[in-house]
Amino acid sequence: MRKAIIAGNWKMNNTIAETKALVTELIPLVKDAQCDVVICTPYTDLATAVEMTRGTNIKVGAENVHWAEKGAFTGEISAKMLVELGVEYVIIGHSERRQYFAETDATVNARAKAALAAGLKPIVCVGETLEEREAGKVKEVLVRQTKGAFEGIDKEELDNIVIAYEPVWAIGTGKTATAEVANDTIAIIRNTMAELYCPKCAENRVRIQYGGSMNPKNVKELMAMPQIDGGLIGGASLKAVDFSQVVNY
Ligand code: PGA
Repeated sequence: MRKAIIAGNWKMNNTIAETKALVTELIPLVKDAQCDVVICTPYTDLATAVEMTRGTNIKVGAENVHWAEKGAFTGEISAKMLVELGVEYVIIGHSERRQYFAETDATVNARAKAALAAGLKPIVCVGETLEEREAGKVKEVLVRQTKGAFEGIDKEELDNIVIAYEPVWAIGTGKTATAEVANDTIAIIRNTMAELYCPKCAENRVRIQYGGSMNPKNVKELMAMPQIDGGLIGGASLKAVDFSQVVNY
């Protein structure tokens, strides 16, 4: 019932020239994908990516968005600016932003609301650190992050939001959560959504991706788990062949 969605997170990689090469190679490789396919790129690559993927099955996302409509926020980009470019998705609350750029549950919530209000689809990231996992705090952290992110967001919006569960210790480390651990942890998030909205909404309308060293080798096993509705792919999204193998799992 929940359609899988696989999104690339390019992070701070790819110039416009590199974007042209990567997207040109990617388009034919993913054209028959059964899942929704998204590439999230740096701001400077968005216009190129949107232009090149027009009429294909690839959607384009940004990697962050500011919560204000406009104003004195030097260096920031608003949701309206992204929509005007033809961007459809936006990653919000990635652990790198939480770690290096003072992102909090409250700012994640503000960004998600602004994105939705402008018609963007947020990919909201949650996930525990290694210390939190070792201290037995996985549930506490994920419930807090999920409730914080969705504070005041209407049930009607659930079809327009994707959650990405990314254990911080699995990002860019080559360490994947086992399929079982990923599945069981995502169940905690889904149960939290059931509590916040309704069990049926959580079951039928909330798509939850796994992210963290997902690649062509482990994608099948992860995607076979009932709770996992897709992936947020960092490193493996930078090579067209690797990303296409994940998308065509
Ligand atoms: P990774 O990154 O696939 O390189 O681990 C995932 C992410 O940070 O979204």
